Amino acid sequence: MTLFKIAVAVLALMSVVMQPAGGLAQTPTDSRAATGGAQTLEDILARQRGEKIDDAFRRNATGSDAAAADISQQLGTLGGASDPELWRALRFGSARVTATSRGPATDVVIQDSGMAWLKFRKGPLAHWGGYLLLGMLGVLALFYALRGKIRLDGQPAGQTILRFSAVERFAHWLLAGSFVLLGVTGLLTLFGRVAIIPLIGKDAFAPIAIAGKWLHNNVAWAFMMGLVMVTILWIAQNLPNRHDLKWLALGGGLFVRGVHPPARKFNAGQKIIFWSVLIFGISISATGLSLLFPFELPMFAATFTKLNALGLPQMFGFGELPGTLGPYQEMQLAQAWHSIVAFLFMAIILAHIYLGTVGMQGAFDAMGNGTVDVQWAKEHHGLWYDEVMQEDANPASTRTPAE
Ligand code: HEM
Repeated sequence: MTLFKIAVAVLALMSVVMQPAGGLAQTPTDSRAATGGAQTLEDILARQRGEKIDDAFRRNATGSDAAAADISQQLGTLGGASDPELWRALRFGSARVTATSRGPATDVVIQDSGMAWLKFRKGPLAHWGGYLLLGMLGVLALFYALRGKIRLDGQPAGQTILRFSAVERFAHWLLAGSFVLLGVTGLLTLFGRVAIIPLIGKDAFAPIAIAGKWLHNNVAWAFMMGLVMVTILWIAQNLPNRHDLKWLALGGGLFVRGVHPPARKFNAGQKIIFWSVLIFGISISATGLSLLFPFELPMFAATFTKLNALGLPQMFGFGELPGTLGPYQEMQLAQAWHSIVAFLFMAIILAHIYLGTVGMQGAFDAMGNGTVDVQWAKEHHGLWYDEVMQEDANPASTRTPAE
């Protein structure tokens, strides 16, 4: 019996030793054939590494009527597609689906891009967005600790001049008020589950979440109105001019006492804020409208096609972006982009609010009651002050256009 066991063991060992080079671990040259056309270990590992795989072998494996057994034969009533093939066709959107309810996305039975979107929203978006805002608060606190409040170098003159008319102030506060509400309610929507529910519980959070959503959806219109008004009122004065380079080279005089680079109504720093508000404002409004009217305003596939034609994504190593997207993918991208822009926008506005309040003596009055001290005007917007004085001395003269 023992001899027999030894003989079997020797035979088994020999069969292993005599395997061709590569032995047991060798993969067939056509790995797809080895899995009968299904996905291979390489495909699975590549997907786990987050790499893109060519899934045509699954996307197109959705059965065929030609392969169906004749109706008179056994199993002939089952048609030419097996259950897995039917599910695949549903998943990849090639099945012929009709739905009784009408709407752009009602015939989408399965969509699997939702998981990637959910992971992005809970992961990188929430983490990096949160770090960005906290980082900006940290930078501002540090700046305040090192530089303190930017005070007037000279003595206040006690005399004021008009800086922003009532219409300008109305437009600004419409934009600012709505922005703050949108920011707070947006953050509540993203972070409520992790930050508020553990504190007050689900029942107490539910009405807050509902009110927040209602506010966010409706206050958006005030923001868009404010954006249009501010653009019309201020765009001409925010065109770049030759003084901007000097202002930027001197850091706007923000870091050193007694330095006051010349500026007209808006300095280069304010112009950066203005153009950021305009560009981010348009982008966040467009994606916001797309989210407000689900599936009615898809814009990403068309934008990607235009960007591909310009060669921009390829230039930055993203390859060609998809030119066709399902209705849910459009919505997921709209939400993702809306939030990315919102975080960048909020970070910039935090710096703006800092300078408009605690950061600079006398700045708030400009938007508060519309006037600033003459000394403030001379120090921070010297060229604008000269223009106003000239105009007052000669009311018939017209203002020189932005250089
Ligand atoms: C909520 C607090 C805010 C405060 C206290 C504030 C304060 C101010 C002040 C004092 C000015 C005039 C600066 C000057 O005299 O030169 C100003 C201008 C301006 N604000 Fe605000 N603001 C706030 C929020 C916002 C928001 C949320 C936005 C846009 C979404 C915004 C957009 C602008 C723009 C575009 C200007 C003109 C360019 C500039 O001065 O940077 N502001 N703000």
